[in-house]
Amino acid sequence: MIIATALISCSQKEIYKDPSASVKERVEDLLSRMTLEEKVGQMNQFVGIEHIKAAQSSMTEEELANNTANAFYPNTTIEDIERWTSEGLVGSFLHVLTLKEANYLQSLAMRSRLQIPIIFGIDAIHGNANAPDNTVYATNINLACSFDTAMAYRIARQTAKEMRAMNMHWTFNPNVEVARDARWGRVGETFGEDPYLVSLMGMQSVKGYQGNFVSGRSVEDCRWDVLACVKHFVGGSEPINGTNGSPADLSERTLREVFFPPFRKSIEAGAMSVMMSHNELNGIPCHTNDYLMNDVLREEWKFKGFVVSDWMDIEHIYDLHGTAKDLKDAFYQTIMAGMDMHMHGIHWNEMVVELVKEGRISEKRIDESVRRILVAKFMLGLFEKPFADEDESMQIRLNDEHRATALESARNGIVLLKNDGLLPLTEGKYKRILVTGINADDENILGDWSAQQKPENVITVLEGIKQYAQVDFVDQGWDPRNMSAEKVEEAARKARNADLNIIVAGEYMMRFRWTERTDGEDTDRSDLDLVGLQNDLIERIVASGKPTILILIHGRPLSVEWASEHVNALIDAFAPGMYGGQAIAEILYGKINPSAKLAITIPRSVGQLQMIYNHKPSQYFHPYAVKPSTPLYPFGFGLSYTTYKYEDLKAVRDGNSFNISVKITNTGERDGVEIAQCYVRDKVASVARPIKELKDFTRVDLKAGESKTVQFVLTPEKLSMYNKKMEWVLESGEFEVMAGGSSLDKDLLKTTVTAGNEI
Ligand code: BGC
Repeated sequence: MIIATALISCSQKEIYKDPSASVKERVEDLLSRMTLEEKVGQMNQFVGIEHIKAAQSSMTEEELANNTANAFYPNTTIEDIERWTSEGLVGSFLHVLTLKEANYLQSLAMRSRLQIPIIFGIDAIHGNANAPDNTVYATNINLACSFDTAMAYRIARQTAKEMRAMNMHWTFNPNVEVARDARWGRVGETFGEDPYLVSLMGMQSVKGYQGNFVSGRSVEDCRWDVLACVKHFVGGSEPINGTNGSPADLSERTLREVFFPPFRKSIEAGAMSVMMSHNELNGIPCHTNDYLMNDVLREEWKFKGFVVSDWMDIEHIYDLHGTAKDLKDAFYQTIMAGMDMHMHGIHWNEMVVELVKEGRISEKRIDESVRRILVAKFMLGLFEKPFADEDESMQIRLNDEHRATALESARNGIVLLKNDGLLPLTEGKYKRILVTGINADDENILGDWSAQQKPENVITVLEGIKQYAQVDFVDQGWDPRNMSAEKVEEAARKARNADLNIIVAGEYMMRFRWTERTDGEDTDRSDLDLVGLQNDLIERIVASGKPTILILIHGRPLSVEWASEHVNALIDAFAPGMYGGQAIAEILYGKINPSAKLAITIPRSVGQLQMIYNHKPSQYFHPYAVKPSTPLYPFGFGLSYTTYKYEDLKAVRDGNSFNISVKITNTGERDGVEIAQCYVRDKVASVARPIKELKDFTRVDLKAGESKTVQFVLTPEKLSMYNKKMEWVLESGEFEVMAGGSSLDKDLLKTTVTAGNEI
């Protein structure tokens, strides 16, 4: 009798509500209380109800059915979703864009039997920019061009705070895909083409988002942390035809040498979630890829977090790839291959419960996934703090410190590609300045994954330039596909009377005009040229014979060969964020000395693809006929208003590593920051090795005339490779070590080291 009473009181004690219990104890206690339906619900996401309402009000059912970016659930009402939430049958929401809605949906979850909080996911790719009134930092491609890994950490940390201030807990970033096809519209949300640079940016982003994400911390400790989600696993950044989600056909060697390292490193940095990729990989959709989710992620890399599907991609196993006979079969296959959470929608709950009841999926398998999801919810402190404070929210979002970081990230990530001496401009020297181009006065500088922001929180290029000079502005509209010949003519006419012309061209990326964009997610191109009348505009302005500056705003590389030959200065600003216009103007007028270097090669034409710096030795054995085989601008390249000299390259063995040093002198008259790069080539190996691979880099501040010796480290890991048997080995022999200011041979000093197992 006494024993029975004890047992009853023990099972009634809700350990999972006790913050002093360990995460493991809390998870196991909660799991033991959950019904199968509640467990399966934890594995499901829905799109926020305001998102659904907005989509339904602006689109027909048919449009919604064919538009993959807007959600709606046929035969389901908003009230249904609210009811399921309050019954504890929804684990997560995404695309909730206001704190009010997040707190409201959470309040529904708090009415449920077990009060398991919702985890809100959002694409906070460069700041929590997809939601209004947040700091919009420079995009990932800009960040990569700054080679500033500390900045990656800082932006992620601040973004985490702005997210938590909106009750959002999980960012679908960093995107650590190695971008190897410029046609792909998502290049701008990546860290470029180099696996080492992408890895470091990914790791620092993960650390910034997640803070010191370890179990056993107090609510206070984790209240500003969010989950990182490394994505998309894997291969979507080298799609066979350049389009998003098309098949990837990649050898295990390419996967392991190029695409896996950033994921592996991000997981080593503690990333708690991974998103699978839309595409099939060598015939098997990533969403049913047991090798990727179980063998690689969990077995090999010991990934402890949870895997989420990408948008409707489990559905696509059945309705697109044709590798499942129906939706239920698709759900079955994905779960058996290791999937934990479904993005997003109806049918999951009912069909997965059926699969368990039919004995096809064991409840033990469901428990594995739910456990992983609950661990994250406990570690984030959601059980203790399910709501965010409305009064506090705007004290954190867009605060001065965050704004200053946005400005700094813009300044550091803009690349000067050409300058015949026109730049920097002297204030007051040019009296009649013409500014024109589709991106001159538009929020498009915010880039993909940004909502429209309040005009007072964005400085356009025109506004930036106006801080320095009076200008004549000819508005070309925002839409490259619908430019007006009259406006081009007007600009050409005015250019002849101007004494300086500034054209701000590029692509259009803003999501709120989803179908009109030319760059961004699901917006892939079969060429890399400027769209519409933009080339015409540039040619006609150049024809004025007046000094002309071209500024590009975009995500993917643009093959602006003619323009780059004919304009006096070319600035590649990618998408520099909310203060992009200010940073561009500061660079134009020499208030800021540009320092960024390309994190991605700029090809001369689409026909040159695949155009990467770290290619194999035979890639240009037979160069192209008629046109050059060289890039328009190479990886690692970027100009400054000063010059740097590299000398005294030395390599000194230190145990199994090599310490590389090189002296850099600022030989010009302005202070600057140089991004020094260290590359390696394995001279003779059992398998063909790239002609060079980035192995280290550093940002170095140099005052005019100053010299500094910088250090790089080559560890055995950096010199190792996969041999013919796909074993990870360091093959003895000579390695060429190169150090300099770009990946171009002419910019690199070279020496040789002998490394190997016997050292
Ligand atoms: C994208 C993901 C994104 C998700 C949610 C998908 O279309 O591929 O990167 O996280 O939508 O917005």
